[in-house]
Amino acid sequence: MRNLGPSMRPAAWARRLAIVGVIGAFNVPVVAPWAQAEYHDVQINRSSYKAQHGHWDMLPVPKDYQVRSIHAALLYTGKVLLIAGSGNDRKSFEAGTFKSLLWDPETNKYKLIHTPDDMFCGGHAFLPDGKLLIAGGTKRYEVLEGEVHNAAGVMTVSNESPDQAVALPKGTPFRAADGRVYRTQEAARLPRAAKTGAGRAVKVTASKTEVWVMAEVRGKGSVIKTTKMKKFKVGGMQGAQRRNVYGQANLITLDKQDFQGEKESYLFDPATERYEKVDDMTLARWYPTLVGLKDGKVLSVSGLDAFGRMIEGTNEIYDPKTKQWTVREDLQRTFPTYPSLFLMMGKGNRLFYTGSNAGYGSPEVGRVPGIWNLDKNTFRKVPGLRAPDETETSGSVLLSPAQDQKYMIVGGGGVGESHKSTSRMDVVDLKKDNPRFKPAGNLATGTRYPNLVLTPNDKVVITGGSSDYRGKGDSNLLYCNMYDPKTGALKQMADPTVGHNYHAEALLLPDGRIITMGSDPLFNKDDTGPGTFEKRIEIYTPPYLYQGKRPELTGGPRELAQGETGTFTTPDPSAVETVRLVRPSAVTHVTDVEQRAIALKFERGDGTLDVTVPKDAGLVPAGWYMLFANDAHGTPSIARWVHVT
Ligand code: CU
Repeated sequence: MRNLGPSMRPAAWARRLAIVGVIGAFNVPVVAPWAQAEYHDVQINRSSYKAQHGHWDMLPVPKDYQVRSIHAALLYTGKVLLIAGSGNDRKSFEAGTFKSLLWDPETNKYKLIHTPDDMFCGGHAFLPDGKLLIAGGTKRYEVLEGEVHNAAGVMTVSNESPDQAVALPKGTPFRAADGRVYRTQEAARLPRAAKTGAGRAVKVTASKTEVWVMAEVRGKGSVIKTTKMKKFKVGGMQGAQRRNVYGQANLITLDKQDFQGEKESYLFDPATERYEKVDDMTLARWYPTLVGLKDGKVLSVSGLDAFGRMIEGTNEIYDPKTKQWTVREDLQRTFPTYPSLFLMMGKGNRLFYTGSNAGYGSPEVGRVPGIWNLDKNTFRKVPGLRAPDETETSGSVLLSPAQDQKYMIVGGGGVGESHKSTSRMDVVDLKKDNPRFKPAGNLATGTRYPNLVLTPNDKVVITGGSSDYRGKGDSNLLYCNMYDPKTGALKQMADPTVGHNYHAEALLLPDGRIITMGSDPLFNKDDTGPGTFEKRIEIYTPPYLYQGKRPELTGGPRELAQGETGTFTTPDPSAVETVRLVRPSAVTHVTDVEQRAIALKFERGDGTLDVTVPKDAGLVPAGWYMLFANDAHGTPSIARWVHVT
């Protein structure tokens, strides 16, 4: 064990405090550390302890099925889809080895899924029919500073000919006036220029495309860094093409090259358990947020583009009917990558941006929380958030019941590779006339990457995270809390044994348990070498599953329309206190804009519950939900899947 001296890092302090806290509760006798550990083990396995704090177990995933969980989604078949893609592993990327795993918690069966593309760091959202739309991902890995030997950058190519399209094969040379040559890295095509008007009034608008070029010669001599665009001649052009086709660039450098996004998008069909290719997005995106709208369409926001540049405000929409993407010029708005955007209930089409985000973006642009009205493309800022400069890598959740429209933001850290992290838990009530964030408590220590999971009985499990950037300095936080929005109480639960920082997730299962997976530390424990991706999956059984008999939902409709009432059967209707419709998670990079729990009105009958789905597509967007019945102790039934249309 490391020597925990007075210079012990804050994270280590917090961890020790947490352990002292738990052991303290048992009034542990003064004994040797090994005996203490054994004693601790006995205590956490006592039924009285479990009934208060819950219990963590390891899921014994067979070695061949262990994947790097970067993305996780619960499907309406009750199975969990874990997507690794290349899993932030350059070798896998170069080998074209992309992975996804399907796990069935009911039968404990595992299945590797053929993964046609590198979905690593793409975005996802559930469609009304329950398929998972996955868009974007990795086209190329980053190249760190010092590893860039040939200057490279973006070349804008124009074609002024209205008569001839242009093919640019891979390796096409671009020659500067001073003779320096840069070559394209992949094939590209330029359509013909657009021609409008007639006769003397004819107007030709050049077609343009961007390509990535690399200097032919190594070293500084090929660097171009100017504010004014330089013009380049394109090799291989014939006749008039030599005049009509040209390149322009101003930044061809030896700087670090960020990950490059891709345009590809896929549907994962839970019924066939296969990926299906659909239309490409208009822009390539790495780290986009996909959010479902009232009409079942999906908005794709932010990300790094095909050349690793921040996308400045261009957002686009997927239509499940046509399976096509369309840029929405009327919805220009810039956010940092993976912005937490939640569909709001009530009139119009509105999204609430809690301020949470992960990854990239200007420290000044798009960091303030607020309500984005999509009908007018207006943005109303919501004030009051504590630590407003520490929203990156924070967690956000729409608290239960969703009808209350209260949103919570938890933890987070400074922009980029910052040591800063905050313990802030703030809540905003959007039903108020002038909503503002109010303090709702604090975690024990500053926490980046906290995983937030709604329980069927209206609480939030907050688990994992690290106090420093990507677990640096052995800063994983092995603690778990339960927050009660009704009372504002934050209760410490049993400690998880696996740490989770970057590229980690947690989600609620249909049986009421919670799984945590992933984690991608930058370094190993003592910061002397690279970190190891965490492949273990841990399961948390919350206290509400240690309270005795569970309510049961034994039958009922598979499908209900918004506003419709359905009759479900239960052996003991009098035991049911609340009924919740919980939308399953689709989570990555602490971003989960899917999960929400809606309170349902119900009437008890003779062995039945008549349950009514609210008629508000902003509150209950069409899709598959878990229906839970909870008793007076907050013990939930096992969920029944209901398709809301
Ligand atoms: Cu990532």
